[in-house]
Amino acid sequence: MSATVTTAPAGRADDGVARVRRADRLRGEVGLPGDKSISHRALLLAALADGESRIDAAGDGLDVRSTAAIVRAMGVAVARIERPAEDGRTVDYRVASPGLAGLAEPDDVLDCGNSGTSLRLSAGLLAGAGLTAVLTGDASLRRRPVARIIEPLRSMGAVIHARRNDSLPPVTVVGHSPLRAVELTTSVPSAQTKSAILLAALRATGRTTVREAIATRDHTERMLRARGIEVTRQDASGRDAPAGVAWSLEGGGNVDAIDERIPGDVSAAAFWLVAGSIHPDADLRMSGVGTNPTRRAIIDLLRTMGATIEETAARADDGIGEPTADLRVRSADLRAIELGPTEVASAIDEIPVLCLAATQAHGTTRFHGAGELRRKESDRIAGIATGLAALGASIALDGDDITIHGPTPLRGAATDSDDDHRLAMTFAVAGLVASGETGVGRSACAAISYPGFFDQIERVRA
Ligand code: S3P
Repeated sequence: MSATVTTAPAGRADDGVARVRRADRLRGEVGLPGDKSISHRALLLAALADGESRIDAAGDGLDVRSTAAIVRAMGVAVARIERPAEDGRTVDYRVASPGLAGLAEPDDVLDCGNSGTSLRLSAGLLAGAGLTAVLTGDASLRRRPVARIIEPLRSMGAVIHARRNDSLPPVTVVGHSPLRAVELTTSVPSAQTKSAILLAALRATGRTTVREAIATRDHTERMLRARGIEVTRQDASGRDAPAGVAWSLEGGGNVDAIDERIPGDVSAAAFWLVAGSIHPDADLRMSGVGTNPTRRAIIDLLRTMGATIEETAARADDGIGEPTADLRVRSADLRAIELGPTEVASAIDEIPVLCLAATQAHGTTRFHGAGELRRKESDRIAGIATGLAALGASIALDGDDITIHGPTPLRGAATDSDDDHRLAMTFAVAGLVASGETGVGRSACAAISYPGFFDQIERVRA
């Protein structure tokens, strides 16, 4: 028996269903895309720098391409260069910008596609640059909340509006500069919100401080530092300050043009870390994976569950201070864990595939306070519960809490991604261990973050 992924026969319309059969073994080196979060930021920060920035090994998913198009629409020369690469990271960018003060007002509506990061970070950048623009996206993005960026940007003096009482895209930024510095706490743990504020703060008069109760990914902060902006961090805890972390920067600094290399996407690696852990005969490797402390929770949570993951630190020579490592994962007997809101936030994009791991773990796994998952590309709590239940898992919801009893043998069934890339890939990985054949409906969305994912599924089967 082997794993196969089939599409509709040539000559007939592709029904969008990927069919994944159980694999006898999983072996080999897996190619990962460049980190999606870091690639977005690399393009946006390159647009703010006067001169040419080189961005090597970028993610080439549709979301990153949306950000590249937005940057082009601001009058920046963005060249996307394809090259063959063993590790799957096949796209470099060369970005030549006139710098923040020279950006042009886009002459059309900006289409962010499916990408919340493109929309929220660009809104902050545009507000700071004093450019008028309208940001919209696909049906999924137009259902995602934006009050979390509208309110803080407005408090800085931005003129910014959104549909439905400022809650949903499209978002309109009305050029109005300069902004004033503020000191505020984000309303939800959201790196996108924090980053939108920091990007707007680059041109604000004075020192802006953003505090977050739960620390989120700090790529924007690291990458601003790499480009010569002094960003300071304070751990806020104690009686007078809310717990968490605060980031500050002074407006008016110059963003430098630099050369950088994007690490492999740990959120993409998560699918193989889970596949390798739950499949009974697996040995998979990945190289140059980003292991930033604010992103690596999936590695540590799986290890807590008993996963066998070897990690060899790689050189930090990426130009942006992002650590990387080579990873090897082999079959393991997993045990259940309990996650509170802080752990959920730290692995927010990996919770769907961690739910799959939990179906194969001994005991009862609980995720508490996972409500933000309902505000992603789809309602991921509902989608994961429906899909895993169809495969035979024992999964129960109580509001925003998820409870999974394991281990349960999975059996092939029809699942549906709801056009959410992380659900499509989670169900495909389930198909590698489930008996028979698993159908993944609306599978093409995997290309949002991981073009070639289904080719990798083909390659790792023995
Ligand atoms: C991202 C932050 C997270 C994450 C998203 C990417 C980023 O979203 O879910 O996939 O690049 O900043 P939130 O900041 O909305 O939690």
